[in-house]
Amino acid sequence: MDGSVRIGILGTGVVGQTIGGKLVELGHDVKLGSRTATNEKAAKWVAQNGARASQGTFADAASFGEMVFNCTSGTVSLEALRSAGSTNLAGKVLVDVANPLEFSRGMPPTLSVSNSDSLGEQIQREFPDAKVVKTLNTMNAGVMVDPSSVPGEHDVFICGNDVDAKSRVRELLRSFGWRNIIDLGDISAARGAEMVLPIWLRLMATLKTATFNFHIARG
Ligand SMILES: NC(=O)c1ccc[n+]([C@@H]2O[C@H](COP(=O)([O-])OP(=O)(O)OC[C@H]3O[C@@H](n4cnc5c(N)ncnc54)[C@H](OP(=O)(O)O)[C@@H]3O)[C@@H](O)[C@H]2O)c1
Repeated sequence: MDGSVRIGILGTGVVGQTIGGKLVELGHDVKLGSRTATNEKAAKWVAQNGARASQGTFADAASFGEMVFNCTSGTVSLEALRSAGSTNLAGKVLVDVANPLEFSRGMPPTLSVSNSDSLGEQIQREFPDAKVVKTLNTMNAGVMVDPSSVPGEHDVFICGNDVDAKSRVRELLRSFGWRNIIDLGDISAARGAEMVLPIWLRLMATLKTATFNFHIARG
């Protein structure tokens, strides 16, 4: 994207920190949000990322951002977004990177929502004034911000109801280094993007690495 943008990231895990770090490196101002304003992981991330990095609650990060990322644990994302506040999300692009993985029944995790619904759609339904764009959830955090870490051609999917929001996110993805961006259409495509996770997890176990990605070869 041209110029510096204020971006709120909900989530202090590896995904929030990795995407946040890349955005700071690209010259954006980033606030990492958590359940608590003084989250230790966020504090460490702020210390490592300099003056453009800050931390706060989910609501602080959502209100700060012109664009907001959901990088929270998928089974509690709706809860986290409720704390972020619908008014703080209204009219904004909400990039949803989360996967609804349910670990309570052991490994491998199952999807807490699938087939005829998805987390992306649940978020869009509960926050109708936010412009939800699902992307980047089909790969490891390191690959999200450094596609060249996987050699050769490989792809990132994007979907959402708002065409302008998708175009802004595409621009951001290009600034991360993405070239093959496949637009799957409206937010109902989040079903397929999330249902990729069982095979992704199996591949990670088989290949013994998380640094891989999907490539769609076309005839
Ligand atoms: N790890 C990857 O490489 C990868 C790749 C693709 C997609 N994803 C998806 O990206 C998302 C983030 O993954 P992650 O591994 O970085 O972190 P994570 O451990 O899945 O999530 C961490 C975040 O969830 C929040 N959280 C946990 N319980 C909560 C609750 N009860 N209410 C509200 N918020 C709660 C935490 O809040 P606090 O800050 O307060 O602790 C923290 O900010 C997940 O949905 C994951 O499936 C991960």
